[in-house]
Amino acid sequence: MANTHTTPQDALTLLEEEHRAVEKLFDAFKRAADNDLERKATLVQRACELLSMHAVVEEEILYPAAREALHKPDEIDVNEAYVEHFLVKSLIEKFTTMKPGDEGFDATFKVLTESVNHHVEEEESELFPELRKTRLDLVKLGERIATRREALQSRLTKAATPH
Ligand SMILES: [Fe+2]
Repeated sequence: MANTHTTPQDALTLLEEEHRAVEKLFDAFKRAADNDLERKATLVQRACELLSMHAVVEEEILYPAAREALHKPDEIDVNEAYVEHFLVKSLIEKFTTMKPGDEGFDATFKVLTESVNHHVEEEESELFPELRKTRLDLVKLGERIATRREALQSRLTKAATPH
């Protein structure tokens, strides 16, 4: 694989960076002029792509590892995170049939923003700190996440390129 490897990052730092990236898109959307539909469309599309990839790597890699490492499933409920992702994904789904200017477009994105912010806050204040206390190899996990993310990204890029 033609992989340009930078310094390996621990999984949680990597995911936190993704959280910051999506928050930037949320902020940009809030600041976008009401009638700038093109900009709104771009921002929503990028946020949805980023969130979809983020959800996949967390569900496939982070949460199963978290379940194993925590041994105390009652204290930190990973199931709740799955449910929150489910809600976020159903909101993302709505954007496949809506475009900026449509009734409910801005409202849907607002609810998406709020749901993601809540979820991110929970992860960063509860799940991630707990995981940092475990023996989980976060660098190794970060490598798996980065590899999976790259594959998802290239599939997305290919899908966006007309053949
Ligand atoms: Fe998440």
